[in-house]
Amino acid sequence: MNKDEIQKVVHTLPISAGLFCIFVKLNQNIGIKIYPTKYSRDDVYKRQKKAAKLDLGPITYGIVDIEYRGQKAYCYLTEIVETCTPSMYNLLHVKYLREELLDKINFNFLDNHYKNCGIKNEKLICIDFGENDSDYILIDEKFGVYRDMTNEYLEDNIKYV
Ligand SMILES: Nc1ncnc2c1ncn2[C@@H]1O[C@H](COP(=O)(O)OP(=O)(O)OP(=O)(O)O)[C@@H](O)[C@H]1O
Ligand SMILES: [Mg+2]
Repeated sequence: MNKDEIQKVVHTLPISAGLFCIFVKLNQNIGIKIYPTKYSRDDVYKRQKKAAKLDLGPITYGIVDIEYRGQKAYCYLTEIVETCTPSMYNLLHVKYLREELLDKINFNFLDNHYKNCGIKNEKLICIDFGENDSDYILIDEKFGVYRDMTNEYLEDNIKYV
């Protein structure tokens, strides 16, 4: 799927979102993660790419910048993995995952609740590589680039999973 195809289809698909990122499933295997600023996208993407190489996160398929609902949006493509349910979530496994991420890629997976975890090859992995959403907002504000992309869609569009 190229940029124009993504651009065309992305508005029509259901989204799920946390506080900072909008996630859209483009097909069965690939999703796009949409961020309001380049800084936050680059930061999260870089970390997921490193983790993917160690089988600690979903595979990444590159970055793409699109226009999303009238605003420039900074995105990357990711493998879709099975998301965790509370019953799959095992605190001991999360502890191991957190230790491994810290040891190997120096990422402190503090926000490690079940919605930020997935299962791949029967193993718990991280799916949310954001370090601290409020830091991104502070940094973006400092550079005058922070725009609140997500709030206006909260009511109608966001499907909480
Ligand atoms: N690789 C993936 N495979 C399947 N679902 C995903 C993937 N990445 C994200 N999602 C879905 O999209 C949701 C939002 O993504 P993510 O947690 O990265 O966003 P966020 O805004 O940073 O969340 P938070 O509020 O935790 O900071 C996830 O909770 C999950 O349901
Ligand atoms: Mg999240």
